[in-house]
Amino acid sequence: MRRISIAIDGPAGAGKSTIARIIADKLNIEYIDTGAMYRAVTLKFLRKGIDLDNDYDKISNILSYTDINFEKGKIYLDDEDVSEEIRLPEIGKYVSRVAAMPEVREKLVKLQREIALKKSVIMDGRDIGTNVLMNADVKIFLIASAEERARRRYTELHEKGIEVSFDEIYKEIENRDYIDSTRKINPLRKAEDAITIDSSNKTINEVVEDILLIIRNKC
Ligand code: C5P
Repeated sequence: MRRISIAIDGPAGAGKSTIARIIADKLNIEYIDTGAMYRAVTLKFLRKGIDLDNDYDKISNILSYTDINFEKGKIYLDDEDVSEEIRLPEIGKYVSRVAAMPEVREKLVKLQREIALKKSVIMDGRDIGTNVLMNADVKIFLIASAEERARRRYTELHEKGIEVSFDEIYKEIENRDYIDSTRKINPLRKAEDAITIDSSNKTINEVVEDILLIIRNKC
């Protein structure tokens, strides 16, 4: 099979990662969770006690010795498996501010493009179709109501034993949507050639089937 690239963008909690992972398995291609990369950098900044508003010099310096890798569905930050830790609500609170920093985006976008040059990928995020992989074979814009997205995130965290209130999650999602779609560099928006799918009233399987059909028609 020739090398293909599939971009899935959309707001937090629309189901991008669950769906992208299933499609990657079915097509036997690599799944790249770019949100996890921004979360990993956020984790590093928080651990180092960085002041996100003032420590510009430190930020660039830390990025210069930050290594991010994916292996067997896990994400490694400087060789440490941080797959679980990056999902903590504390990271969700700060990640959009970190993701709005030009130095951070420059570094991670470069890394994302390098990965996609080497193999077939399905990549999810906010700016994949509009910026990272502008020539992707298939571009999907996955949306769902804020209420539904907060409900899903709430269930997911509770199943993992992480105690948070629904209101807290709802506010965090709204806040992230706002920062992600109004930031100056590569904000969250639908690429002109992306196909919108609303997952609010669909099962995961239905969305997967919809996307597989689009891929089959285009690739
Ligand atoms: O996908 P997830 O919700 O884990 O992403 C966390 C955050 O990372 C997003 O809210 C957004 O601020 C940032 N992000 C981004 N560009 C991407 C992927 C994620 O700015 N391509």
